[in-house]
Amino acid sequence: MEDRIFSQGVNAPSEGLLFSYRGILYPATVSSPETLEALKSFETRSDDVILAGYPKTGTNWLEQMVRELESTDAKYTEEEMKERINAEKELETFPRLEFGDPEIYERMKKLPSRRIILTHLPPDALPPSMLQSKAKILVLVRNPKDTAVSYYHFYNDMPVLPSFASWDEYFAAFMNGKLAWGSYIDHLVEWNKYIDLERIMVISYEELKEDQILGMKRIAAFFGFSVCEEDFRRIAEKTSFQAMKEKSKETHGKFGDIIFRKGLVGKWRDFFSKAQNEEMDQKFEDCLGGTKLAAKMKYDVYCKA
Ligand code: A3P
Repeated sequence: MEDRIFSQGVNAPSEGLLFSYRGILYPATVSSPETLEALKSFETRSDDVILAGYPKTGTNWLEQMVRELESTDAKYTEEEMKERINAEKELETFPRLEFGDPEIYERMKKLPSRRIILTHLPPDALPPSMLQSKAKILVLVRNPKDTAVSYYHFYNDMPVLPSFASWDEYFAAFMNGKLAWGSYIDHLVEWNKYIDLERIMVISYEELKEDQILGMKRIAAFFGFSVCEEDFRRIAEKTSFQAMKEKSKETHGKFGDIIFRKGLVGKWRDFFSKAQNEEMDQKFEDCLGGTKLAAKMKYDVYCKA
């Protein structure tokens, strides 16, 4: 599946790679305005496990961790596990809520519970049933400077996205939200509005990097997964950057090397000029200064030069 999407991008002219829906850009090889229209009718189940994060905040890592935690808690038999994997395959798309053809949401009704649903969308773009239901939503955030650098490489390495001639040109697009899924800062501002809801929890890439087991314990407690110490250790090993990168050909096909790039915190220092640092610091302060989300993200620790 991943390799088919990859090839579609290689052959597509760069001006057709993105489309705009309600003022936000999305990749045309994996979604369409019709799909995003159809998404409105998506029916959330109260036991859906929802993971939301802007691109490049570590969503593939979080997905793998949560899949492992969920299946450890559920104790699926081998047969059940096979059924679950086959049901996912029948969706015929890379698992992101906003990907696929407009009929995908009908097919998703056949997925057995608990469904693990991933999205890069901010809350105002989610289907109404998702915010109205009792389903829990785990929101992943990453410091905006590393997110920007990661997305820069992704944009330039992924055939399904247009390329930028220089970091400076890309940085302007990042700051203006002229990238797929729009502005990351706007995305954070939107999630901050929901931060006090009990059914929403925020976790950061950096806290998972600092102490993955502690982070996974927070995730398990939030979703009500019962997982023992030994399993936490096993899952941490299985989802380490190295382990995931080594397995990535199998799990992500040709996208593997592009997604599992460096997996580090603070590499933005190699890219941001003094002026770009100041611009980002100012924008973050203007849009999110003093908010609970900003405190959670520890901007001063991870983003100050
Ligand atoms: P870098 O480009 O900085 O290396 P997403 O999955 O949302 O596309 O995010 C990709 C980012 O998460 C990449 O960051 C990637 O290396 C990092 N990542 C993926 N798996 C990881 C893991 N197991 N541990 C730490 N970082 C990981």
